[in-house]
Amino acid sequence: MNRKKLIQEIFRKTNFDTYLEIGCSKGKSFLPVRCKTKIAVDPDFKITRTRKLLWFIKNPYNVNCKYFEETSDDFFRLRVDLLNSCETLDVVLVDGLHTFRDSLNDVLNSLNYLNPNGIIIIHDCLPPDNTSAMPAMLFPNLEEQNVEGWTSEWYGDVWKSIIYLRSNFPELLDVSVIDSDYGLGIVRIKNKIDGKLKIDEKSFNAIDQMTYKEMIESKESVLNLKSSDYARKIIEEISAHNN
Ligand SMILES: C[S@@+](CC[C@H](N)C(=O)[O-])C[C@H]1O[C@@H](n2cnc3c(N)ncnc32)[C@H](O)[C@@H]1O
Repeated sequence: MNRKKLIQEIFRKTNFDTYLEIGCSKGKSFLPVRCKTKIAVDPDFKITRTRKLLWFIKNPYNVNCKYFEETSDDFFRLRVDLLNSCETLDVVLVDGLHTFRDSLNDVLNSLNYLNPNGIIIIHDCLPPDNTSAMPAMLFPNLEEQNVEGWTSEWYGDVWKSIIYLRSNFPELLDVSVIDSDYGLGIVRIKNKIDGKLKIDEKSFNAIDQMTYKEMIESKESVLNLKSSDYARKIIEEISAHNN
């Protein structure tokens, strides 16, 4: 199951009505979503006017979607009124800047507005090789440097956010990764969260030292890796609470 199917299935099987996508690009995962309130955030959208018009016809829910051409940090700083006016965010896709810090900030900021029965999906939590998993600082130079194994695909070190969330909030959050579509991180609320969750720099720095090789060697346990079947289980659980 890939991210597009997972998101569409969740909306098909529940009465959820609010979707936020951080990092939207051409709208491949965003435009097919069918729900009342759709919000997309990206500092550099790649959806052409024609594509938008075509998708109005294919999916009428696109007529009312809201686009914010800005970074996710700016979005969460500037759009507090809008976020408070949505009752809650039901489904969030975190697929923006593929760094440890940005993906973690995106998750923590989204949690402030998440429906207690909602879900955050984080794309690219299990990159296929070391080169595509390079931290962002190294990424801009990889192409020029003729790095062995470089294929122009970059997933970054988003996987560290999974480890951070699992080690820092085991009582509050249920966190796992579905072994599909380059790793679909799943975050759900286990127990009520009081106040805003903040990044603990000491823990962040310790996890930041971890290498891709170390993560791969123990991926089942550190990522709480699950097979594709787990996606069906999650959909069933969420829909049992929402119908
Ligand atoms: C991999 S693409 C998203 C793909 C899309 N979600 C899909 O499934 O088709 C990543 C996007 O993140 C955007 N991005 C980069 N930095 C960002 C930031 N700080 N906040 C939000 N989005 C960002 C990029 O412009 C790019 O369009």
